[in-house]
Formats: sequence, C-alpha cells, structure tokens
Amino acid sequence: MAHKVGIIGGDGIGPDVVAEGLKVIRAAGVELDTVDYHLGGQRYAEDGTVLPDEVLDEWRGLDALYVGAVGTPEVPPGLIERGLLLKMRFSLDLYINLRPFEAPGHDFVVIRENTEGTYAGEGGFLRQGTPHEVATQGSVNTRHGVERCVRYAFELARSRPGKHLTLVHKTNVLTFAGDLWERTFNETAEDYSDVETAYNHVDAACIYFVQSPEQYDVIVTDNLFGDILTDLGGAVSGGIGFASSANLNPNGVSMFEPVHGSAPDIAGQNKANPTAAILSGAMMLDHLGEHDAAARIRKACADKESLTGSTTEIGDLIAGRL
Ligand code: IPM
Ligand code: MN
Repeated sequence: MAHKVGIIGGDGIGPDVVAEGLKVIRAAGVELDTVDYHLGGQRYAEDGTVLPDEVLDEWRGLDALYVGAVGTPEVPPGLIERGLLLKMRFSLDLYINLRPFEAPGHDFVVIRENTEGTYAGEGGFLRQGTPHEVATQGSVNTRHGVERCVRYAFELARSRPGKHLTLVHKTNVLTFAGDLWERTFNETAEDYSDVETAYNHVDAACIYFVQSPEQYDVIVTDNLFGDILTDLGGAVSGGIGFASSANLNPNGVSMFEPVHGSAPDIAGQNKANPTAAILSGAMMLDHLGEHDAAARIRKACADKESLTGSTTEIGDLIAGRL
C-alpha cells in the first residue's frame, strides 16, 4: 500500500528541492500517496493563512510529512517560523530533531531537543517601545522533555558501532538548565553501561566540529545549541546543501526536511542543491520501513563531489543512478 505523505514545498527554493526529492523517491521504486499543502510565507501573503488547526488534525492521520523550506522576506520575522514550523514541532510533539553528518571518512549524528529551551516561547516585553523596555526570553527545560531526548540519544548510540554519546551544553554558565541536563544525562547513563559518554561545552564543541569531528559519534544537546551546531555540522561536512534532518515523534507522525532555509536570494534560479532534501527523503523512507530504497538513495548521493549542476540536473543525476 502506498504511504500517505503530506507535502509542504513551502517558499523560495523549497518547492524545487522537494520536487527533486519526490522524483528520486519515485526512481527508487517507492510509491507515495501525496497530499499537497500550500503553506508558508507566500500563502500567508495571499490570504493570511498560516497553519489552521484542521490541517494539523489531518496531518495526525498521515504516515509522514515532507517539507522543503518556509519563510519569505516580506513576512515579519518569526511569523511563519513560529506559526508554522514551530507550531508543527510543538503540536505534533516532534521532540527529536535528528541531523546526521558525514565529514570525510567519518559520520556522526546530532540529536537536538526540539520542543523546549529558548524555542518554547517563554518571556515577553515590558514597557515595549519606551526607553525602559525590557525583553525576556527564558529557556524552558523539563525533566520529562530532557530525559526522553537523552534516552533516545542513548538508544541511538547503543545501536551504532561507535557506542559513544557526547552531551553538549554550557554548564559552566547555565547553572540551572545545564545542571538539569547534566544530572539527567548522568542518571540515564546508568542504564547504558555499554555506551561511553563525554561532555563538551558548546563553544569548545564548535572548535572540535571544525578540527576533530572524528571524536563524535552521537551528540545530544538542547534546542538552540543544536540549531547552531547543526548549521556548523553542515558546513564542515560538505556544505549545508547536503544536510538532512528528521523531526521525530517516535509515537506519532514525523516530519522530514533539509536543514537549510528557503534561500530567497536564489529562489527560482534552478541553482539550489537538492541533495539535502533528497537525503531527508531517504530518512523518511527509512522511517516508513523502506530501508532498501533509502539505502540505495544514500548510496547514489555518497559521492558529493559529483553532485554539481542545477537543481534539476542534480536530481536527474541521482535519479539516474537508481
Ligand atoms: C532549523 C531552522 C529553524 C530553527 C527556524 C527556521 C525556525 O533554522 O530547522 O534549523 O531554528 O529550528
Ligand atoms: Mn537552523
């Protein structure tokens, strides 16, 4: 039976890279029953729609969601990010953001907590627009939210040959949130004596990402650190055009999207590298149980140097290899 997948091409380069992803999935022999959703900055500009609750409810009945990128420069910053992407993550409880990287001769995975931290929306303004205005934006960290994320990371580390997990945080300054993360990490580690553990401050991790990424196998970190670190991860492993991601709810519908954004500066120019979206499609296929097709797509994308040309040329090249 065909897998029922919701497609949100979105804005800018999003629809173009998703089209290549779907082309490659088809070439791999997997049949998808797709449902298109016209959402994003452009849709908002048209009629003010961001993400209706009825649409969210519909999504709960799907097998997966496949997203290109959302956001247009004309729409106020945050409106689409919060109203669509984060609402999707929070409402569907996509609490694991899994981002794999391949540095030369070595691969590692970042598990980013995806529903809490500074993204949770805590805070606000006081006396906004006056000389005495105050803005706060706190970081929300729950034992439940941290533990389920850390536990997922330990399970993943256990399943990999490296069996190594690094916690990345900033415990020397964030002595409340950092303490909760560190205690949760250390207590959970007691259930995984076969997994070796390490800890890095996030600033030091930035150095290691560039200088010695081979020290990493699985990394677990909070939402904002994970956001920043995974852009860096993309940069040190072939470029952001290759960085794929999964937003997972292990007990519900999950969403797959490239790490990159809508890149409005190159939209419509057939210039964007669709590989990140294609590899996100492969992650989706794995999630749908189509392991053979997923492995074949990954293999077709393995030689990064050969994946040059226009968006459609790269898509055709990869599809051709299948
Ligand atoms: C990402 C993006 C999003 C994030 C934005 C668009 C809200 O940068 O998926 O990494 O910050 O999580
Ligand atoms: Mn990001």
